[in-house]
Amino acid sequence: MDSLKDPALARLLDRLHRQSDDQLEAMRPYYAERERRKAPPTAEEAAGIKAFLSDKLVALDRDKAAFCYQLCRAMNARRIVEVGTSCGVSTLYLAAALRDNLHAGAGGGSVIGTEYEPGKAAAARRHFAEAGLGAFIELREGDLRETLRHIEGPVDFMLVDIWIPMTRPALELVAPHLRPGAIVVCDNTEQYRQAYADYFAFINDPAHGFRTMTLPFAGGLEFSVRC
Ligand SMILES: C[S@@+](CC[C@H](N)C(=O)[O-])C[C@H]1O[C@@H](n2cnc3c(N)ncnc32)[C@H](O)[C@@H]1O
Repeated sequence: MDSLKDPALARLLDRLHRQSDDQLEAMRPYYAERERRKAPPTAEEAAGIKAFLSDKLVALDRDKAAFCYQLCRAMNARRIVEVGTSCGVSTLYLAAALRDNLHAGAGGGSVIGTEYEPGKAAAARRHFAEAGLGAFIELREGDLRETLRHIEGPVDFMLVDIWIPMTRPALELVAPHLRPGAIVVCDNTEQYRQAYADYFAFINDPAHGFRTMTLPFAGGLEFSVRC
C-alpha cells in the first residue's frame, strides 16, 4: 500500500504545498529582515512576528516530506512525534506512512502532532478529516513545552520542523522516549547552522547517544539516529 499514490491525497497535498509556496513568496521580506537582524526582537516585535506567522503554513518541502514518509515505511514506524504541525502538511505524510505500515501488519500506533496557533490547529484537523487520516493523528494543541510532557514511548520517528528556539526544548522532552535506532529529522540545519547551536550541542553530546549527519536537501536536513 502506498497512500502517496492515492489521487485524492495527492490532490490535497498539491493544493496545500501550492498554498504554502505562494505564501513563502510573500514572506521573502520577512526572512530578509530576519537574516539582517543581529539583536533579538523586543517583546513587542516578537508579538508582531507571531501574529504575522499565525496564518502561514511554512510547510515542509515536498521532497523532505516524501523522504520522511519513506523513512517511516522503511522502519515500520508506529509511534511518531512531529513538532510543529502548522496546518498539517507534513503530518499527512507521516500519518499516511503510519496507515500503510498498519495495513501491512498487526498492532496500533499514532502520530502525535503539536501546534499552538488555534487557527492552524483547526485547519490541520479539517485537512486530516479530508484525507481520511484523522484516526491516526493525535493533535496536541498548546505550547509543546507543556503538551509533550507526557509521551507514551517508545518513539520510532521524530520530525522537528518548528521555530528554531523550540527545537532543543522539544528534543529534550522526546529524547528519553526514543527507542534505539529511532530517527530524528530536523529541517534547515545547514541554512541556519548558528541558530541551531543549542540543538547541535544536545545532539553532539555523547551522553545522548546520537549519530548525526546533514543531508543535502535545500537548506540542509539533519538526519540523526539514536544509537
Ligand atoms: C515550520 S511550521 C510547521 C510546518 C509543518 N511541519 C508542515 O509541514 O506543514 C512550525 C509550526 O510550529 C508552531 N509552533 C511554534 N512554536 C511552537 C510551540 N512552542 N508550541 C507549539 N507549536 C509551535 C508554529 O505555529 C508553526 O505553525
